[in-house]
Amino acid sequence: MATRTEEEINRRRTFAIISHPDAGKTTLTEKLLLYGGAIQSAGSVKGKQTDKHAVSDWMELEKKRGISVTSSVMQFEYEGYCINILDTPGHQDFSEDTYRTLMAADSAVMVIDAAKGIEPQTRKLFKVCAMRGIPIFTFINKLDHEARDPFDLLDELETEFGIRTYAMNWPISCGISFKGVYDRQKHCILTFASSHAGRSRIEAIECDIGDTEKLDELIGEDLRETLTEQVELLDGAGFDFNLDDVKCGKLSPVFFGSALNNFGVETFLENFLKMTQPPLARESEGTTVDPFSDKFSAFVFKIQANMNKAHRDRITFLRICSGKFERGKEYLHVQSAKTMRLSQPQQMMAQEREVIDEAYAGDIIGVFDPGIFSIGDTVCDASMPVRYSGIPTFTPEHFAVVEQVDSMKRKQFSKGITQFAQEGAIQIFFLPESGMERVIVGVVGMLQYDVLEFRMESEYGVKYLKTDMPHEIIKRLADQSLDVKTLKLSEDTRWVQDVRGTNYLIFDGQWSVRWALDKNPGLILLDFDQKNETEQ
Ligand code: G4P
Repeated sequence: MATRTEEEINRRRTFAIISHPDAGKTTLTEKLLLYGGAIQSAGSVKGKQTDKHAVSDWMELEKKRGISVTSSVMQFEYEGYCINILDTPGHQDFSEDTYRTLMAADSAVMVIDAAKGIEPQTRKLFKVCAMRGIPIFTFINKLDHEARDPFDLLDELETEFGIRTYAMNWPISCGISFKGVYDRQKHCILTFASSHAGRSRIEAIECDIGDTEKLDELIGEDLRETLTEQVELLDGAGFDFNLDDVKCGKLSPVFFGSALNNFGVETFLENFLKMTQPPLARESEGTTVDPFSDKFSAFVFKIQANMNKAHRDRITFLRICSGKFERGKEYLHVQSAKTMRLSQPQQMMAQEREVIDEAYAGDIIGVFDPGIFSIGDTVCDASMPVRYSGIPTFTPEHFAVVEQVDSMKRKQFSKGITQFAQEGAIQIFFLPESGMERVIVGVVGMLQYDVLEFRMESEYGVKYLKTDMPHEIIKRLADQSLDVKTLKLSEDTRWVQDVRGTNYLIFDGQWSVRWALDKNPGLILLDFDQKNETEQ
């Protein structure tokens, strides 16, 4: 018989919702939360004109701009399942935070605007999910607006992403003539009417695709003819459904609907929960850790300071990978080899925090961090030491010199910059032999600079001068004992070091990289995250 821990883990579903901005991620999240009763009214996640604030946005900057910069976690119950949604920042600009959040998810829901298809952000996010081989579910949204041909949309997913698709339902027209969807499993029609907006369940009218008379009555002769042809084509030429392929991310079940009108969301949720899996096993130094083991283990995927001005603190987010977490119990922080009691374990509902006594594999918990944790660290039951493989660091693509302007605030400046570097919000580098007053900040997406500026001012009271650099490529010196000053480098190439004193060169383009290699025979330049063969 399954133990209580096993039962709890078995009902956990942890997924991320990914989309290009404006495709409808926030709206879909809100509707899912409504089903779980986690929020009481539509508009709590993101309101209309009157209240632009979202449950999932906790920074003022986000509220001001109406975008979600940091990612948050939302937990709710639905029909016996315990669901954790990881909200990923949905801005055009990309940050490392997004990548890391995807590391904590067991599956992903990709929201696509039916009029636009795949957009740049969808592409980037998809790549990260595909890299991990996690199941990807697709929700094609906004069918109540004019949309592209559904076959085209499926074709685009297949050719661009190299995955197979299986349409779980099929739209009956779109825009003003949108009539609903045909459910290919249940052989019924879900009719669309704007009155369906809200929580009420949509009436499913059973109707076989061969029942011409009934179909004509429901959707009219023309649309019936089109639907019959399209479903025949799908049945004949489309891929077969195979759950194993879904589980390894090779086949994406596709749902059509309209999040805003709450149309197709419930069907999506029910099918998704049936197809998606409990927490996936994770690798620890070549072995696989069983999530159902009764021993607790987790890894740090996010660190954030000063999340709430009312609580000036630093919170570390742990994704539990196995077993049960118990408040007050001693656990091992593997990287420091110290045992500790995690203080004030909390579950997050965006800004709301609730202290919890227990949590299970699949859950995300936040703990107070006295400054010991780093991204990728493992915390576990001391009797089963594991070490999860680190979270990849992404190579910065933009660089800027950041200088302190007010010498009275020297301490706050360096404290703030160091804090954000530890959080992984930015990467910092130093010009050798220069102090902490002037640092080079490297980021993946330009938005990270705005967040840094805003947070430095609001959390540390520091203003600074920022000068963008033309550099875009960073390389690590393979031979760290090399006297960098003796290298022949183009005028714009800069020598920088990270906090550990590792030497890097930053270049303004490929031309300068080639120049350095040509002029310095024997020089070996590694990628930013590439290790020497002798390194672990
Ligand atoms: P995001 O989180 O992916 O960025 O998208 P979000 O849910 O904020 O949705 C972006 C816009 O698209 C919003 O309109 C939202 O109301 C609209 N939208 C979402 N789903 C649907 C849908 O199924 N049909 C239609 N027609 N629109 C949809 P907005 O005007 O930009 O914002 P708001 O003022 O409505 O909040």
